Amino acid sequence: MNSAAAVATDTGAITVRGVSKWFGSGDGALQVLDNISLTIPSQSVVAIIGSSGCGKSTLLNIISGLVTPERGDVILNGVPAREFSDWRSISYMFQEDRLLPWRTALRNVEFSLEAGSMLRSERETRAREALKLVGLESFADAFPYQLSGGMRSRVALARSLVQEPCILLMDEPFSRLDALTRAQMHEELLRIQQLKKMTIVFVTHDVEEAVVLADNVVVMAPRPGRIREQVAITLPRPRDATEPVTAQQAHHLKSLI
Ligand SMILES: Nc1ncnc2c1ncn2[C@@H]1O[C@H](COP(=O)(O)OP(=O)(O)O)[C@@H](O)[C@H]1O
Ligand SMILES: [Mg+2]
Repeated sequence: MNSAAAVATDTGAITVRGVSKWFGSGDGALQVLDNISLTIPSQSVVAIIGSSGCGKSTLLNIISGLVTPERGDVILNGVPAREFSDWRSISYMFQEDRLLPWRTALRNVEFSLEAGSMLRSERETRAREALKLVGLESFADAFPYQLSGGMRSRVALARSLVQEPCILLMDEPFSRLDALTRAQMHEELLRIQQLKKMTIVFVTHDVEEAVVLADNVVVMAPRPGRIREQVAITLPRPRDATEPVTAQQAHHLKSLI
């Protein structure tokens, strides 16, 4: 295969190969991840679950390039992370919305584009499109304090989407929302994922969330963090967390944590 073809087919694909991570050094070094290998196909949705402290966020940080592992490597879009340069094609949505309180929704979304050389008018156009995508076009001029938790979460999502990522990483992004709003965000996210053909990798505490959203669930075991099991979720979509088959899958996942 020539390299152009490799890039075309691998856009959005993630491979984690034999990744181990320690924090600290010498006798005090703490091994946080042990020999993690994962293959995440392009345009799939993968959930990472496991007990608190088992290394989920660290794994996500390693995939994002924020943290470098001592052993193993990550391959993004078919390119080893150390040679990878298209970091703008990867977005990271954190647990807190991290909106800047002194900026409007629109300007918060534009923030993602400010590091580049894009014209201000172009930035604004794209930010408006991203807000429209999450159903907030009429709140462009609102400040974060004027928005509900769900709306703030949508702004944060728009900010992650405005650079048109092929990979979206999310660390417990909806954990602070009430159940109803969270379910709305799930629907929204899946609609956008279908539309934009992104790969999504997210960490969650909520096994129901994992079952409703994911094609594959990676269950981690703690101390040091390793993969206990990978579970494919083949239930038809859209999935309803209250249906018995969904609840049954969630119950099974809980038993593995
Ligand atoms: N920057 C760091 N320095 C030292 N230890 C860390 C650092 N980040 C995380 N850890 C430790 O690594 C372990 C895994 O953390 P984390 O990946 O945040 O777990 P999870 O997201 O599954 O709750 C924890 O014991 C945590 O205290
Ligand atoms: Mg975490």
